[in-house]
Amino acid sequence: MAIFMLFLGARSQLTPYFYERTCPNLLNIVRYKVEKAFFKEIRMAASLLRLHFHDCFVNTGGPTWNVLLGRRDGFVSSKAAANISIPSAFDSLNNIISKFKKVGLDVTDVVSLSGSHTIGLARCAAFNNRLFNFEQTGRPDSSMDPHMLFQLQLLCPNVSSYSADLDSEIGNLTTPLDRDSPIGYPPNDFDNHYFQNLLNRKALLTSDQVLLNS
Ligand code: HEM
Repeated sequence: MAIFMLFLGARSQLTPYFYERTCPNLLNIVRYKVEKAFFKEIRMAASLLRLHFHDCFVNTGGPTWNVLLGRRDGFVSSKAAANISIPSAFDSLNNIISKFKKVGLDVTDVVSLSGSHTIGLARCAAFNNRLFNFEQTGRPDSSMDPHMLFQLQLLCPNVSSYSADLDSEIGNLTTPLDRDSPIGYPPNDFDNHYFQNLLNRKALLTSDQVLLNS
């Protein structure tokens, strides 16, 4: 019981100001370390952006949130909660909208926040559903630009065993979410080219392309 109370007490102490007195320079140190990691591996920016999206969705919701500091937040991590609340690339538009609604975000937020896919990469396993047998039709997704389709089919061949296996070799091959973005590989310019791609049927994930549905 005493230990339980100790845990409860410890959890309730989580606060954005946890290090204010003990490490007042924390945010500068974190910023410096993140910049260093970013210069070493540019994709780090995309990966961290995605991490914050997921953290925000599972733990608090809303367009902004206070990051609670102190190591004790591990007590509330839940893989199951994450899998239920975070939208999947294979969700219908309605599902995506309702998952956003559950955390206080509306349709405009769905569209504008999806614009984060202007940077970063996705693995074959996240979009191969569109390449050969879209929605059990035996054909690729007809809403995808044919030249892009051809390139993606070369990258992610139709090997039946890998589609369900997120850790397979082919499933893990990557390509930019924001195809043909003007600057850099992987594309690292935060621009509106992602939305131009949507209009030109060059979205990578089903969840991106369905934004054009309405
Ligand atoms: C609308 C619903 C969304 C769905 C279904 C979705 C799904 C995905 C998927 C499947 C990937 C590729 C993961 C992989 O292949 O390993 C991805 C990557 C990414 N997502 Fe989303 N996403 C959504 C919204 C968002 C939002 C709101 C943000 C940020 C505010 C975001 C930021 C990113 C970034 C930056 C990457 C690239 C990560 C990297 O290169 O490491 N996404 N997303």
